[in-house]
Amino acid sequence: MKKELIRIKITGPLLIILIVTILTAFPNPTSAAVTGTCANCHTMHNSQGGSPNMLPGQTGPQGLLLKGDCMGCHGMGTANNIDPATGAPQVYHTNATDLAGGNFRYIDTGGDSRGHNVIDLDSNNLDDVLEYAPGAFPTAHNEKILSTRITCAGNIGCHGNRGKPEVMGLQIMKGAHHKGESGAMLTATEVYNSYRFLKGVKGFENDGTYKWQNRDANNHNEYFGNTTPMSGACGTSCHTSGGVMPPNKTMSGFCATCHGSFHWLDDPLGDGSGIGGNTASPFVRHPTDVVLPSTGEYARYNNQDLGTNQYRVEAPVARATDGGLAGISASVTPGSDVVMCLSCHMSHASQYPDMLRWNYAGIIAGGGANNNGCFICHTQKDDGL
Ligand code: HEC
Ligand code: HEC
Ligand code: HEC
Ligand code: HEC
Ligand code: HEC
Repeated sequence: MKKELIRIKITGPLLIILIVTILTAFPNPTSAAVTGTCANCHTMHNSQGGSPNMLPGQTGPQGLLLKGDCMGCHGMGTANNIDPATGAPQVYHTNATDLAGGNFRYIDTGGDSRGHNVIDLDSNNLDDVLEYAPGAFPTAHNEKILSTRITCAGNIGCHGNRGKPEVMGLQIMKGAHHKGESGAMLTATEVYNSYRFLKGVKGFENDGTYKWQNRDANNHNEYFGNTTPMSGACGTSCHTSGGVMPPNKTMSGFCATCHGSFHWLDDPLGDGSGIGGNTASPFVRHPTDVVLPSTGEYARYNNQDLGTNQYRVEAPVARATDGGLAGISASVTPGSDVVMCLSCHMSHASQYPDMLRWNYAGIIAGGGANNNGCFICHTQKDDGL
């Protein structure tokens, strides 16, 4: 009897330790499904007390019995970057702390070059300069990926199911919000199991204290990359029966589904696309999905000696293996981590021209030690040290 008790005492904690060890060794996605009372988000008849029953500023009724559209829940324009009632992350808000994608409000305060002028923001305020996605490839894409069409989600959008089979309205997201996963997103075959509902993109979602933020070296998302950009014509491999998806599942490959020429390795149609044919210098466009060399100035990423290269949210790198998406890493490894579109750009909008993470006009070669922007990787171009 005594023996039995002792055994239980030891096995209990040991089992827990064992389970925790297994879980940390093989990270599984955690749940990031919506929570709260149905009435926060849904309305059964769009009527309560005889009046329409929508979220502020929203008109209805909406598909899936929702109280608003994407901007109704995610772009409330208040001083909260996370809505306290629904828990919805905000992409248009007035307080200073932005979430990882940036704040679409910079387009109002700084101008059209600050971000993607999605039509959901204000269909009367489209991009005045850009008619279509720069670098649209194949070139025929410039007739489709127009500033008059770019939207949060769907066919000419970023989140959800992107066309083929043609899906419209909230069908684009259907099922994702109640099934959403978080943490290491390694499957990326459906909207709910892809990084931030970007179908076909892998990554690690920061679900900790600073959920949805790229705050500092210890609190940020992890992006997926590859050691070579996509190759060949995307026409067959990007347009799948499940919609448009980057076959390499990387963040840069995702941007390339609209801005192909800026990422592509080679120039399959002979129309001047791509970075120059291979992953070795010289390039004709700044490469993405190529490894940060472990030699020269790159080895000192963030101006630190090899081995202590601390991750900088102002010029993040992507990880080229699934292992790199297991959790947040505070360091960068030249020789294996890769440069990506989001090393320099925000995805929604930033306070700087060209949607950059920093003011490019302030990055001055030979202008003295700076350690910002381009210099985070090109560590010797500021002071030459
Ligand atoms: C009725 C409110 C509501 C509507 C409408 C809505 N969302 Fe959401 N959305 C939420 C909430 C709440 C969450 C946060 C879930 C959580 O806690 O992880 C969320 C999360 C998300 C996320 C983040 C997922 C992640 O990985 O963390 C994305 C992306 C998103 N929504 C996109 C959209 C798009 C695009 C639309 C329009 C097609 C849309 N949402 C419509 C409430 C809404
Ligand atoms: C669904 C197509 C689509 C995807 C995917 C897409 N873009 Fe764009 N992008 C556009 C269009 C259309 C424009 C031009 C209209 C605008 O700026 O609003 C544009 C404009 C831009 C601009 C110029 C902004 C300006 O106004 O000067 C940058 C920078 C940019 N995109 C970067 C990215 C990055 C980085 C990604 C990936 C995270 C990405 N894009 C993904 C369609 C897309
Ligand atoms: C915080 C916001 C939120 C809450 C709370 C919420 N929902 Fe939803 N629900 C959504 C959004 C957004 C969608 C549409 C987009 C999607 O499916 O991803 C949706 C879609 C649905 C759908 C259709 C798609 C599917 O997953 O089957 C059903 C059914 C549904 N909700 C039922 C409910 C019920 C029942 C409750 C209460 C127990 C509830 N919802 C609470 C936000 C919410
Ligand atoms: C996240 C790291 C990173 C950032 C930030 C970055 N670069 Fe680079 N850059 C690279 C890598 C990696 C290469 C390719 C190195 C190689 O393989 O030779 C490169 C190459 C270059 C080249 C040489 C191209 C060639 O043909 O050899 C130039 C010029 C350049 N970058 C300019 C810039 C400028 C300007 C900025 C800021 C707007 C910038 N880079 C920001 C990583 C970065
Ligand atoms: C090394 C930093 C860096 C990387 C990486 C980078 N960009 Fe840029 N991007 C810039 C800068 C700087 C500009 C401003 C124009 C210029 O210098 O060519 C710019 C401009 C743009 C524009 C606007 C072009 C126009 O005509 O107004 C788009 C669109 C764009 N980038 C998309 C992308 C996409 C997509 C990727 C990934 C495939 C990417 N960028 C990777 C730094 C970068």
